[in-house]
Amino acid sequence: MDWPSKRVLVTGGAGFIGSHLSSKMVELGADVTVLDDCSSGDSAKVPSEANFIEGCITNSDLRSSLLDGIDIVFHLAAIASVPLCENDPVRSDSVNRQASLDIILDAGCPVIFASSAAIYGEPVSIPINETHPIEPLGHYGGQKAAVDYAIRALGVGSNPATALRFFNVFGQGQDPSSQYSGVLSIFIDRATTSQPLTIFGDGEQTRDFIHVSDVISALITCAESLLEQGTMSPAHGEAFNICTGVPVTLNQVVKVIEDSIQGNLECKYQDERAGDIKHSSGDCSKLQDMFDWSPMISLSEGISDLISNSQDV
Ligand code: NAD
Ligand code: UD1
Repeated sequence: MDWPSKRVLVTGGAGFIGSHLSSKMVELGADVTVLDDCSSGDSAKVPSEANFIEGCITNSDLRSSLLDGIDIVFHLAAIASVPLCENDPVRSDSVNRQASLDIILDAGCPVIFASSAAIYGEPVSIPINETHPIEPLGHYGGQKAAVDYAIRALGVGSNPATALRFFNVFGQGQDPSSQYSGVLSIFIDRATTSQPLTIFGDGEQTRDFIHVSDVISALITCAESLLEQGTMSPAHGEAFNICTGVPVTLNQVVKVIEDSIQGNLECKYQDERAGDIKHSSGDCSKLQDMFDWSPMISLSEGISDLISNSQDV
């Protein structure tokens, strides 16, 4: 792919996944613009070579001006926390659902959308593949499901688009300072600063943790296919699970961290969080079979890497 000739818009590019993607796009030579309101992201994470615009994706004038001349949009901006969306469903609907639909319809170029495993709700079969019923439990999952559905309903007359259903993404750069961050970043921060971990529920809930570098390779794989083949791409109008297929309980996560730091952790158990699903474990064979993509980093490798980096700081 001739990335140096491409103008790329990354919404949410100051966030965890978006900043990794923006850096990778800069490394590949693309002309990168980041749109982010820094509500959970940090402008310091945006690579200096990118054109950073601080603004909200609900601003239609700003969207139109930024979309002009863009070759592909990676649409990652969202209120990514399940509890934050449950607490403010009106705001999260305007950002996560309405603005996302507007971006897909107005883009005039390929769009890759950050969908979520949360759209499946409580699984009726494990591992979850893409034909699993879509029955989200809360607002966050419902908002993501609406956009995911709209992409799958696009025909050949539309702009090319793909929904990638991320499971639980982890890796460097996920801000641990907020209670609304991903659980692994919070646990590792606490484990390495001798603070107790809080576990919501009995710790037997499962998640499928996928390393951010594997997510970035999936995003780029699908983007290249949409750019090369347009609506004839096998990714157009499709949704793919981005996961490892390995379910892990939070209690097991604690053990992996304990093994890595060679010490015991104090865990405090509290009530389950509203809107949480109990189990999540995906089947990623659709993307594997179609594009020869595979997750490369295991949970224990990723955790060891995070811990050694936190000890280097
Ligand atoms: P994040 O919170 O780090 O990144 C989201 C970014 O979007 C932030 O920088 C935030 O400031 C920005 N943003 C939020 N509202 C905005 C608005 N109205 N206008 C402009 N920017 C706005 O989260 P992340 O983990 O990097 O998630 C990226 C995307 O992937 C999100 O769409 C999220 O729903 C999705 N996702 C994440 C995971 C995960 O495990 N991290 C799993 C499934 C899906
Ligand atoms: C995460 C993502 C969401 C994504 C979904 C896909 C974040 C913030 N959320 O949601 O964007 O769509 O995966 O599957 O990245 N927990 C604790 N203690 C803590 C924090 C969390 O026990 O200190 C528990 C939660 O109650 C939950 C589990 O850990 O049962 C995972 O929580 P979290 O990391 O917030 O992710 P999800 O809600 O799965």
